[in-house]
Parts: sequence; C-alpha cells; structure tokens
Amino acid sequence: MSPLFGLGWLILLLAVINIEAQKKPAINISSKCLGNIMRVDVGPLGGNLLEVAVVFNNSAIPLTPSLASQHGFSMKTDKLGNAMIYVSLLNSFAQNLEDKAFTTTLNLRLYGNRMGEDELYQVSETCQYAAWASREIICDRNYMEVSVKRAAPDDYALPEYPVNGANSKFGDPRRAAEKQPMDTGFRITTLVFFTPEERMMTVSEAQRQGYRIGNTPSRLVLRSPKITPETYTQMVAGVPMTVLTTSTIFDKKWLATQIDIAASCPVLEGSVALTPNTITWYLPQHIDPLISSSQFKLLEVHMGIDGQRLDAVEMAARQYAVTVNDVHIIVEIPIGAVGGYSKSHVQDDQYFTSYTIEPMLELLWTEDTNHEDTRYKVLFPITTPLLPQPPQVVDNTLPEEQIFKVKIGPYASDVTLVNITFPSEVLSVGDCNVRGFNVQEHKSHNSSFKVITLQVPFTDRVVLPMRRGGITAYSLHLTFGLLVLPEFAPFSLTTYLEAELVDIVPPQVSGYCDQANFYVLVQYGTQGFNFQTTVGKQQMTSGLAQQYGFMENGTHFSFAVPFTAPDVVFEAVEASVIRTRLDVVLRNPETNKRLKQFSMACNFLSPLTECFPNGTMTALAVKLESVASLNPSRLTLRDPTCGPSYSDDRYAYFVFTGRSCGTTRKFLPSMMIYENEISLPDEFEASRMKTEEPEYELKVACYYDINTTHAVSFHTRPRRSEPYAENAKGELQVAMRLALDDSYSAFHDAVEVPIVKYLQQPLHFEVELMRSTNPKVSLELQNCWATLNKDRTSQPRWNLIINGCVNPVDPYQVVFHPVWSDARVQYPSHFKRFEVQMFAFAEDQENLSSQLFVHCDVVVCDATNPLGGICNGQCSNAKNRIKGQRRAVSDQSFKHVSTGPIFIT
Ligand SMILES: *[C@@H]1O[C@H](CO)[C@@H](O)[C@H](O)[C@H]1NC(C)=O
Ligand SMILES: *[C@@H]1O[C@H](CO)[C@@H](O)[C@H](O)[C@H]1NC(C)=O
Ligand SMILES: *[C@@H]1O[C@H](CO)[C@@H](O)[C@H](O)[C@H]1NC(C)=O
Ligand SMILES: *[C@@H]1O[C@H](CO)[C@@H](O)[C@H](O)[C@H]1NC(C)=O
Ligand SMILES: *[C@@H]1O[C@H](CO)[C@@H](O)[C@H](O)[C@H]1NC(C)=O
Ligand SMILES: *[C@@H]1O[C@H](CO)[C@@H](O)[C@H](O)[C@H]1NC(C)=O
Ligand SMILES: *[C@@H]1O[C@H](CO)[C@@H](O)[C@H](O)[C@H]1NC(C)=O
Ligand SMILES: *[C@@H]1O[C@H](CO)[C@@H](O)[C@H](O)[C@H]1NC(C)=O
Repeated sequence: MSPLFGLGWLILLLAVINIEAQKKPAINISSKCLGNIMRVDVGPLGGNLLEVAVVFNNSAIPLTPSLASQHGFSMKTDKLGNAMIYVSLLNSFAQNLEDKAFTTTLNLRLYGNRMGEDELYQVSETCQYAAWASREIICDRNYMEVSVKRAAPDDYALPEYPVNGANSKFGDPRRAAEKQPMDTGFRITTLVFFTPEERMMTVSEAQRQGYRIGNTPSRLVLRSPKITPETYTQMVAGVPMTVLTTSTIFDKKWLATQIDIAASCPVLEGSVALTPNTITWYLPQHIDPLISSSQFKLLEVHMGIDGQRLDAVEMAARQYAVTVNDVHIIVEIPIGAVGGYSKSHVQDDQYFTSYTIEPMLELLWTEDTNHEDTRYKVLFPITTPLLPQPPQVVDNTLPEEQIFKVKIGPYASDVTLVNITFPSEVLSVGDCNVRGFNVQEHKSHNSSFKVITLQVPFTDRVVLPMRRGGITAYSLHLTFGLLVLPEFAPFSLTTYLEAELVDIVPPQVSGYCDQANFYVLVQYGTQGFNFQTTVGKQQMTSGLAQQYGFMENGTHFSFAVPFTAPDVVFEAVEASVIRTRLDVVLRNPETNKRLKQFSMACNFLSPLTECFPNGTMTALAVKLESVASLNPSRLTLRDPTCGPSYSDDRYAYFVFTGRSCGTTRKFLPSMMIYENEISLPDEFEASRMKTEEPEYELKVACYYDINTTHAVSFHTRPRRSEPYAENAKGELQVAMRLALDDSYSAFHDAVEVPIVKYLQQPLHFEVELMRSTNPKVSLELQNCWATLNKDRTSQPRWNLIINGCVNPVDPYQVVFHPVWSDARVQYPSHFKRFEVQMFAFAEDQENLSSQLFVHCDVVVCDATNPLGGICNGQCSNAKNRIKGQRRAVSDQSFKHVSTGPIFIT
C-alpha cells in the first residue's frame, strides 16, 4: 500500500463519523461543469477555514497542497472569502463512466469559526464530457495535466488507479515513437524525463516525486506539479514557459512500446505587461514544445474567467479583448474590470490597490501532419503589484445651486468612509446625512471600484463665506477619514473647495417731489430689468407708463406721478397742506416676492378752503388713508342737507356761504370767523356705528378782516377745533381768581404777584362772569390749560379741562367744586370753581421753580335756551359735546381768561 493510502485510511474513520452530522448548508455551495474541469464555489466563508477532502471508495482523503497538485485539484479564496475549488474531470478519484461521465465527491469541512463547531458538507457532481480531443492539456494554478488518447493495451494497470470499465480500443498512441500494435498485457514500467537530459524513473518512484501517471478507459493521463526538478523553462515567442517532456515505456514480456508526452505552461513573469490601466497577457500561438510540425491550424480561441468561458457580448460588456496575431494570443483586461477584484492597501497614509483576476484561455488546434487535435486550457491568475491611486477629488459644484458637490475616489469596495473632519467639528457619515450632506457611495457598473459623493449647502456653518467687492467666495475645508476593511487600516484625504457667487444686488428706488409731482427713479440691480413694478395699487402697464412719462435707458427708469393721481394716498390734511404718500413695489415676476418696497411722502400745498369777499366759501374734503372706507359723497356740512356739489371716490367739494349750511360766526376785535364742519350726517353716523364706517370730521373756517371786509385767510383742521379767541374784552367780562383755600372766601390779590405754591399744593380757581345780573345766563368752562409763559398759545401746554371735561390723562385730575349762594355769590350759575394740584412741566426738570399760567376758554350760555353741548352743563354728555359744538353756538359769547404767573417753589 502506498503512503497515500496510508494517510487516506487514517482520515477515513474521522471523516465518516462527521458525515453523519451533515446539515443543510448555512453557506452557499454550488458546482459547475466547465468542459474538462469542474468548479465548486463555496462561500462566503465568513472567517471560517475550509478543509477539502475527496471521497474515494467511501473514504475521505484530505487534499493537502501536494496531493491536490498530484491528483488534479486546486483551490483559491478571494478577498471576500469565497472559495473556488477547481477539479480536473480526470482527477485520480473521480468515478469515471467510460470517459463520458465523471463523478467527483468532496467533503467540505468548515472550522475555526467563533461558534467553535465544525460544519461538514458533502458535494457531489457528475460532469458529462465526451468531446475529448486527441490531446488535452490543462495548466492549472498548481499543476500541469496532459491526457492523450491511448493506444496502449487495455489490460495494463497501475495498481492504485481506479479503472471503471476496460473497453479501450487500440489506437495510435499520441506521438508514439514506434507505432506498433500492442496487445493485452502491457504494463507501464518506466518513465523517461527529458530535462532535457534523459532521466529514468519507475512509476512508483515518479509518484513519490509528485507525478501522477495513469490511464482511463481510453486515455493516458500524466500530471505534474508546476515546478519539479524535471521541468525546465523555455522561451517560446518571447514568453517563458515551463516544459515537461516524457516518454512512457510499456512492457509486455520481452516487448516494449512507448508514448511520448509533453506539457508546457506559461510562467506569469514575462507573460504579462502592465500599464496603469490595462493588463496585457501574451500567450504564444505556436507552443513549440507541443507542436512537432510547423503546419498547424488554430481552430478555436476562447477566453474566460475563473475557468468559465465568456461569450463575445459578455467580453465586450466587461471591456476584455482577445486578439490573435502571427505570434501571440493577446488578452487585454482593464484594471478594475468586473471579473476580478481590487484590494486596498495603505502605506504612509497613501492609498494603493492591487487587482486580482484569473483569466482563462482555451485553444483548440490541429496539426496538418497527423490531423490530431489538441485542446489547451490555461487558468492564469494575475495579481498586479500595488498601484498608487492618487487621491482624486472632482469638484462638481455649480455655484448657482449654492451647494458644494464633491466626488472622491475611485476606491475599492473594501474602503469605507468613517467620518469627515471640518475645521470646526468632526461628523460621522450618519451625522453628515442627518445634517443634509447626502453622503453616497456609487458603485460602477463595469468595475469593482466605487466613488463617494458629498453635498454641503453653502448655508451650512462649516462653509465659510467671504465677501469681497460684489462677490462672495465660499470655502470648505474637509478631511475624509477612510478605513480599509477588514484590516481597519485608516487613511485620509484632505481637500479644499472654493466657489464664488456674484452678490445679487436688488434694484434701488429713489425719488423726490416738487409742487405737483412725485418723481421716481429706479436703478436696476445685478439681475437687470426683470421685475414688475407696482405704483400704488396698480401694476405698471404700458398705458400707465405712458401716463406717468416712463423713461428707460438700460440701467434706470423713471416716471412722474402727479400728487392728485389715484395711486397717491392722502395721509393727513393740515391747514392747506396735504400730506401724501406714493408706494412703489418691485416684485420678482416668477416668485412674486418683493424685491424692493419704496414709500415716499410729500406735502403739497393746496387751497382746501377758499373764502371769497362776497361770502362764498368752498371746501375740498379729501379721503385720508386712515379712513379708506369713507364714501366722500355722503359727507355734508353741519346742515345735513348740504352735500358736496361734486364728489368722487376720493374727494368731496362743497360750496356754501356764511349764511347757509349751519355756518357759525365769531367776532374778534378786527376779525370775523366763519366756521363749519364737514362730517358724516347723523343718519350715517348711526349706521357707521354698525358698519364701522370711519369717523370723519373736517373743520372749515374763514377769517374775514372786518376793517376791509376782505377775506384774509382760510384755515382747516381735521377733527378737532381749537379756540382762537383773544383776551376777553367788551360787554361781558370774565375773571379768574386763585382762592387761598377751598372755602373760596379769600383770594390772592391780583396785584399780589408772584403767587408762590409748593408742588402738589392744591390750587383753587374760580371763574366769574362779571357785571352780569341776568340769572338766566350761565358760565361754562370749555377748555382750561396751563402754559409756562403768559402767551396762552405757547408750548408746552398742559390741558386741565377739555371741552368741559377733565383731561382724562391728567394724573392729578381737576376737581370741580359746586358753587352756592352767599354774601359774595349772588348768581351761582355765573361762577365755576375747580381745584388742581400744583405741578411742574416735565420738560423743565432742570428748573422746577418755574412759573405757570392757567388759561380758560369760557362760554356764556342762555339758560332759557340751552342748545346743547357745553351749555347742557359741565361735562354733561361726551357724545353731545361734539355734536353740540357743531350746532348751537352761533349767539353764544366765547370768552377767554387767564391768570398767573403762579410760581412753584
Ligand atoms: C447565497 O448566494 C445568494 C446569491 O448569490 C445570496 O443572496 C445569499 O445571501 C447567499 N447565502 C449565503 C448564506 O451566503
Ligand atoms: C475499496 O474499499 C474496499 C473495502 O471497503 C476494498 O475492498 C477495495 O479494494 C477498495 N477499492 C480500491 C480501488 O481501493
Ligand atoms: C466603465 O464604463 C465607462 C463608460 O460607461 C468607461 O468610460 C470606463 O472606462 C469603464 N471602466 C472600466 C474599468 O471598464
Ligand atoms: C475619523 O476616522 C478615522 C478613520 O479613517 C479615524 O482614524 C479617526 O480617529 C476618526 N476621527 C474621529 C475624530 O473620530
Ligand atoms: C440712465 O439714467 C440714469 C439716471 O438718469 C443715469 O444716472 C445713467 O447714467 C443713465 N445711463 C445711461 C447708460 O445713459
Ligand atoms: C362769489 O364770488 C365767487 C368768486 O368770485 C364766484 O365764483 C361766486 O359765484 C360768487 N357768488 C355769488 C353768490 O355771487
Ligand atoms: C382794523 O381796525 C382796528 C381798529 O380800528 C385796528 O386796530 C386794526 O389794526 C385794523 N386791522 C387791520 C388789519 O388793518
Ligand atoms: C429757571 O427758569 C427761570 C424762568 O424761566 C429763569 O429765570 C431761571 O434763570 C432758571 N434757572 C435755572 C437754574 O435755569
């Protein structure tokens, strides 16, 4: 028994027991028949180790490297942990059915995983293969195999070699030195190696050296490790090849015959040329050691990967190329192409890759001289040396999008991005995605490389903006932290991105007014004239542009709007001045977003009231922005039957005389004042309360110089009338005194000035209608106020009584005291008394010991005919107060009194 079988038996006991525990595979196991070989794929192993044993005659024989090469097996594992076991159909342990069907059974043992449990699987595959050429040569990774159609007698045997059936016919031995017929009983006795010197070995000696010689029903098989003392290297067409040349001697009694067998396989070094992008493999077309005549025909050339042929479509898709010239068969493979794999390496923070691929060439040729064909199959694993992969950063940023878009790579698939370091912080890939940086890996469809993309918005805080002269430069410093798995070898890539954006300057609007018009100038921004203009409430149409004298010169446009135009709003009316405003809005026509909003307010002089010497008065009421819902046509003068003689939605124009429409008169020493008011009449006033129509009140007044009977001025004030009377003179005299206390029995003497009071000391005032004996007349206080100096119209001014009522905002409110008859007071209705606490004007905090003057407007009412308003009694009804003023004062006397100074200590 040979040493091989000794080992086999030893293993047998162990193996058979384990097979009992056979389970459904937890990993993928598949097998394929690939012509004269088969392939078993196992994996991914996931950290397990794989032991392969071949099952032969119910025993499992573990395949050591030397057994594998001797008997027709090889194995490789890729970096993903997938194992591929290549098996020659003519392996020593196959069950061979007439050289047409070959069954090989393997036991696979997975061990060394973390679970500590071995897993045992059995895989058995039967491959049909009958298209044997006269000679078939296989160059596997660890052996050379040659088989030839046998003409040797069928009864010779090698003791150890399994022979299933013995039906071989005699045929011409391949390259037989002597073509003599052989009959039964021939035995292989001797092997002669030509190294090139002759070296003879017995069969058993050769097998001890790792060779295998044996026969099948129709073929003689010789297998040799790639490198043995008997192989030698020969240059063939510039390609180094390992050559084995033998003669096998068959003996039968005194007869002998021999078959010459040669094998030749290419050596990696010297066969392959590398450029940075391509692997080029040269195989001699005419492999001299295998071809005796120069007349031969190459019938077929096939290329494949991992033992499996590829069709032309697949080759093109993977960008492989095979060309045949006079001398070589040339295979070109792009580095990184599908079919191989790249492995990453890190040295000094530099990134390298190596690329591994196992192309196959399968040739079929025939020789003219003997018409015998040879099938020649080379499995040719190639791994490139470390190729530097300089960092490639592709900046795909389009500044208008305001996002940095960067692509890095290519990296092999064993590289993973761990984190990105920005000057201010380090973010993991997860953090980046949460932050919206959209980190993505992109696998290539035709290569084993991938790229990584990242997007960082300009608005993120890791981006630094810098303004300079109308341009904003955005910059981004980043360092990618990368890792090669499974070694956990870190490396990094630092890069800097910059993008510039021209700042967007919005259009500018400016303007001014003259006596009649608003003038508007619009300067285009960086985006040019691509906005819509709204003037007031209207969009600038070509019609409006024409109306407003629109002019444009490529960088600016201008237009003029008369202050009376409907696009102008009235903000306020003061005397004969109308305060108006023009709004101009520029919008982006697509988004309707406001680019610019511009408002300009101007005062225009306009005679709102005209007074003619013949007593005719005219008044123009304008609708103010604050009472936008007012309908001017409803306005009337005091007499509600006096409506406007002309009105539209913005104006009401009134014509009236001093004797009509409720106009009242006041006499001053040299002047006559006619007054009227424009407002909504009562019926509308009532509905106004419901409809929320705005309150509107415009006071109209004309001053006539009595001396000349010419109109000298006009005056309008909206909403509130102010007293205009001068110091009281004439028949009715009114006096104001300051009492010493609230008994109102003793008074400061009018000559006893200055009167000095402490702050917050009460001041007791009394106002008396003098020299009147008419008990039906009453005196009412309309307005009382304090000033700092003697001029009653001076500022500052503090109101004590307004329209007969205490000033509601006064912190020390006026207290009215009733007046009773006594020795001094004959007619209480001719008196009014009130109390106020001494105060100082806040405007003069530096100097609190300043003086005060107190002034009052008084009204003398006819008690028999109280027409309402103030004459109804001091602060009798706030609502009537306003109305009464309008209606009922024509024959009342307005008087004015003052007292002071009162000094504060
Ligand atoms: C087996 O292979 C298939 C496809 O190739 C894959 O989807 C599956 O995950 C693999 N199973 C195991 C256990 O690896
Ligand atoms: C196969 O094993 C049996 C015993 O199990 C043995 O008798 C037989 O000789 C073996 N065959 C070969 C070819 O080794
Ligand atoms: C992959 O295909 C692209 C075109 O689709 C080509 O530009 C590139 O060179 C190919 N890469 C490889 C490795 O074949
Ligand atoms: C970033 O990832 C790299 C791996 O490439 C690692 O070495 C480094 O420590 C990480 N930095 C931080 C701050 O986590
Ligand atoms: C356009 O008009 C503006 C304002 O009048 C002026 O400043 C500017 O120089 C003009 N531009 C051209 C090109 O005439
Ligand atoms: C008063 O004078 C004005 C202006 O002169 C005139 O328009 C108006 O008709 C006159 N009114 C009367 C009643 O004469
Ligand atoms: C009107 O006459 C009075 C008294 O005669 C006089 O004081 C006053 O100055 C005159 N006014 C004008 C405006 O002439
Ligand atoms: C206080 O005001 C009075 C009157 O206005 C003035 O005469 C006096 O000089 C002022 N004193 C101070 C300290 O300002």
